Amino acid sequence: MTTLPEVGTNWSELRDRLQKMKQADYAWRVGRVPVFLYHHTEELLRISQEAYIEFFNENGLGRGKAFPSVAKLETEVIEMGIGLLGGGPRAGGTFTSGGTESIFLAIKTARDWARKEKGIDRPKIVMPVSCHPAASKAADYLRMDVVRTPLRPDFSPDIGLLEDAIDERTCMIYASAPGYPHGVFDPIEEIGAIAKNRGFWFHVDACVGGFLAPFVREIGYPIPAFDLSVSGVCSLSADIHKYGFGAKGASLLLFADREYQKYQRFEFSNWPRGTYITDTFQGTRGAGSIASAWAVMNTLGHAGYREIARVIMDAKQRLVEGIEQINGLQIIRPSYLCILLYASNDPRVDIYAVADRMDEMGWYVGKSVTPKAIHIALNPVVARALDDYLTDLAASVAHVRSTNMSE
Ligand SMILES: Cc1ncc(COP(=O)(O)O)c(C=O)c1O
Repeated sequence: MTTLPEVGTNWSELRDRLQKMKQADYAWRVGRVPVFLYHHTEELLRISQEAYIEFFNENGLGRGKAFPSVAKLETEVIEMGIGLLGGGPRAGGTFTSGGTESIFLAIKTARDWARKEKGIDRPKIVMPVSCHPAASKAADYLRMDVVRTPLRPDFSPDIGLLEDAIDERTCMIYASAPGYPHGVFDPIEEIGAIAKNRGFWFHVDACVGGFLAPFVREIGYPIPAFDLSVSGVCSLSADIHKYGFGAKGASLLLFADREYQKYQRFEFSNWPRGTYITDTFQGTRGAGSIASAWAVMNTLGHAGYREIARVIMDAKQRLVEGIEQINGLQIIRPSYLCILLYASNDPRVDIYAVADRMDEMGWYVGKSVTPKAIHIALNPVVARALDDYLTDLAASVAHVRSTNMSE
């Protein structure tokens, strides 16, 4: 058990120890971790880090008075997000610590809206089963019920079954743009029409797609309508710390109408120190991630994000072609964006054994359960490692097949 040292150790020794600890990690800087982190260039990483350090000690909780700088940065980031994601003049938003917090706050807002506007005490949310667990986590914390409805064979939601799941306690429909498991965009326009007709809150989880899909569309790929401009959409989450390339601790929760934010706000007056008001789950909030988001977004602009989109889409094409040439593997379903699934079509090649073999070769590999497949989410640093990835993948498949034949 580690105990607090009696006396301190000098920084250079501690830094050495930190760096040594990292040696056991997967080598993300050379593209071996296609999940958990997003990396474009060393230059962009340095800008993100320097901006973060510049606001390392400021506190987002004090944005109202103590740190007008933080308020300005945050407002500009939110406004850039609204502009990018189809918000009109009435739109509003909040900078949060990540997808989970954005989703939590969207669900809390919908719950309090339903209690007030519809008199439903324990509201229910209906969503396709592919929606991120963060939605069920939030509902659990917030004492709400969730019904997760089945998908069609192409992994899109079965809208008939989604509608069948609606009952008198339903207050919210939740869908993804795209969902993480399969990279599929739920039909946001179709669900938006249902939500609008029946008077439900509709949240779009664009945590993955929010900062990638608009730029993939800008470079000419077809992307279905998914943002705040779609009729019926009330709120949308988009993570800056994913394809926005900001430091971790950065997401946006955006509302089609900022009036809704009154249901988001927490206000508490029974406290000797005075009234306490926050829009976020967090109280004290690091301002570093806000400054990093601001700096990265202003460094990249549309042109920089388009370049990233191009690198990702080219890499996906190369990956699809490379996998199709490996005997025993098949692409499950080409997706719109960065997520790709591939499986085995040879009984002698167990895809999880291939994943384990890749893991032994130093690749962090995502195993999809339904369908049984390997899951990969591309970002530029992974794209640069693609030739090595495909070489090791072919070798892993051959290894698994030969092990099976010799048994
Ligand atoms: C679609 C989707 N929503 C929400 C989340 C949760 O985001 P975070 O891990 O930033 O809380 C993720 C994470 O991968 C996601 O893919």
